[in-house]
Amino acid sequence: MNKKILVTGGAGFIAGALIKRLLNEENNIIHNIDKISYKNGLDRIHEFNKNHRHIHYAIDLKNKELLIDLFEEINPDAIFHLAAESHVDVSLSNPEQFIQSNIVGTFNLLEATRIYMKKLTSVKRESFKFIHISTDEVFGSLGSIGKFNENSNYNPRSPYSASKAASDHLVDAWFHSYSIPTIITNCSNNYGPYQFIDKLIPLAITNGIKNLPIPLYGNGLNIRDWLFVEDHIDALILVFKKGRIGEKYCIGGYGERTNNAVLEKICENLDIFIPKNYPHKQLIKNVKDRAGHDNRYAIDSDKISKELNWLPKISFEKGIEITVNWYLENSYWWNNLK
Ligand SMILES: NC(=O)c1ccc[n+]([C@@H]2O[C@H](COP(=O)([O-])OP(=O)(O)OC[C@H]3O[C@@H](n4cnc5c(N)ncnc54)[C@H](O)[C@@H]3O)[C@@H](O)[C@H]2O)c1
Repeated sequence: MNKKILVTGGAGFIAGALIKRLLNEENNIIHNIDKISYKNGLDRIHEFNKNHRHIHYAIDLKNKELLIDLFEEINPDAIFHLAAESHVDVSLSNPEQFIQSNIVGTFNLLEATRIYMKKLTSVKRESFKFIHISTDEVFGSLGSIGKFNENSNYNPRSPYSASKAASDHLVDAWFHSYSIPTIITNCSNNYGPYQFIDKLIPLAITNGIKNLPIPLYGNGLNIRDWLFVEDHIDALILVFKKGRIGEKYCIGGYGERTNNAVLEKICENLDIFIPKNYPHKQLIKNVKDRAGHDNRYAIDSDKISKELNWLPKISFEKGIEITVNWYLENSYWWNNLK
C-alpha cells in the first residue's frame, strides 16, 4: 500500500492491532491520533514508536483547529477513525465524555477532512477514503431470533451506543452532503490481546489469574457475537482496499455465546494453563444487572463475505485460548492497573 494513513485511537485495543498490521505488512506511514486515556495505552505507543514509520499525536479530537492544521501537515491518503469512548458502563455514569469524544470528535474529524479535501488534486481525491469504525450496538437489542444487517434500523439504548449511532449519521451526512468518500463498518464484540482490562473478557481472565471474583451481570444469559480482533482487522483492510464508497459493511463473528458460556470457556482455559486446587468457575459471582442491558446482538455478515470475500479465521475456542495465554504471558501490561 505504501500510504500515509491517519488512524485515530491507536493507543487502544482495535486500532492498536490495526496499526501493528499496517506497519508490519507494508511500507505505510502511520499517523496516530490518540489522547491516551489509559496509562498502558502509552506502552503501546512506545512500542510502535520503535518503528520510524509511526508518529503519535497526543491530541484530543475535541480540538478542531489542531486537527485542521495536522491534516495540512501530514497530507493523509486515508483515515481509519476508531477513537471513541468505548465502555458502556462508563457511559451510564458519565455520558458527557461520550458526547464530546464520539459525536463532537467525529464531527471535528469530518470537518477537518472536508476542509482538507477541497485542496486535494483530483487524483488524490479519487483514491481518498474515510473509514468509520462503528458497532452493532447502534441497532439495539434482538430477541431470540434474527440478525442485524446493513439495512437494520438504528435503535441505540445506552449513551455509548447512542453516541456511536449519532457519529454514524454524521458520517453518512458528510458523504451525502459534501461527497466525503466514507465507508462505515458495524462490528460485533471483539476480544483478543491488549484489550483494556475493564471489559468483560480481559476482566474475567485477569481476575481469574489473580483469584479475584469474576463478575457476571444478572442471569448471564445476554448473548454477544464474539469476533477475534485479528479477524476484524482482516475485514477492515479488505474494506480499505476493495470496499465501495458510501457503503456500510456489517462484520460479525459467527460466534454467538451467552456471557455465562464465555466465562466458563475462560475458566476452562485457566484450569488447563494454571491449575489450582479448585475450578476457576467457582470464582464466577452474579452481580446486579447493568441498566438497560441489551439481550442479544448478532450480525449477518453476508454482504462483506460475498462482496469482499471475508470470513473469520479464528474460532471462538481458539481465540479464547490465544487470549488467555496472552494475558498470562504479558502481565507486565495489565498488572499494575489491577
Ligand atoms: N471493542 C469492541 O468490541 C468494538 C466492537 C465494534 C466496534 N468498536 C469500535 O471500535 C473502536 C475502538 O474500540 P476499542 O475497543 O479499541 O476501544 P478502546 O477504548 O480500547 O480504544 C479507544 C481509544 O480511543 C482514544 N480516544 C477516546 N476518545 C478520544 C478523543 N476524544 N481524542 C483522541 N483519542 C481518543 C482512547 O484514548 C483509546 O486509546 C471504537 O470506535 C468502538 O466503538 C469496538
